[in-house]
Amino acid sequence: MELKEAIFNRRSIRSFLEKPVGRELIKEIMYAGIHAPTGGNIQPWAFVGISDPLVIKKIRVISPGMLDEPAAVICVYSDQKKAFEKAGKTGEVLALMDCAMAAQNIMLRAFDLGLGTCVIRSFNQSAVRVITGAPEHMRPELLIATGYTDEKPALPARDTGVIYMEAYGRRGAKK
Ligand SMILES: Cc1cc2nc3c(=O)[nH]c(=O)nc-3n(C[C@H](O)[C@H](O)[C@H](O)COP(=O)(O)O)c2cc1C
Repeated sequence: MELKEAIFNRRSIRSFLEKPVGRELIKEIMYAGIHAPTGGNIQPWAFVGISDPLVIKKIRVISPGMLDEPAAVICVYSDQKKAFEKAGKTGEVLALMDCAMAAQNIMLRAFDLGLGTCVIRSFNQSAVRVITGAPEHMRPELLIATGYTDEKPALPARDTGVIYMEAYGRRGAKK
């Protein structure tokens, strides 16, 4: 798939088929995460792929932002210890940015491999940490609901008036 196709056609998916997603496929998708840019190459992150339906059910209970039960969930954690040791207080914000970039890589790769995803922030972070057995310094930042789908959402309205050229507020940027 062309990168352009993935960037423009990926949509948040909130309705999944019951078809399972294999572990190897989940790992392949997560592997795209570690190729994301990361401030100072600190890589203050970790990724856990969850395919056990019972664990996914538990996560859904404490995740108001998860609207359907996906076949897989990928949890993206920031490593607060590593972030602080390498970058002090700035580390926390860098780690959050890194996690967001990794999540985008994961979602584009999933789309490339025929899977739908939805990134979710509305969930109980400490409960997800405990459910997934992560230590205290690993903070779940994002969940990525992942699965096969037949949903074809339209592009939600996008504000194109935020693109300028040369200076803020200067029009003339053509697509
Ligand atoms: C940081 C962040 C948090 C989000 N949290 C949720 C969420 O909790 N639940 C949800 O259904 N979608 C969530 N989304 C998905 C957005 O609603 C979605 O990206 C947006 O509506 C644009 O749609 P698109 O992804 O199809 O382009 C989140 C997206 C981002 C970037």
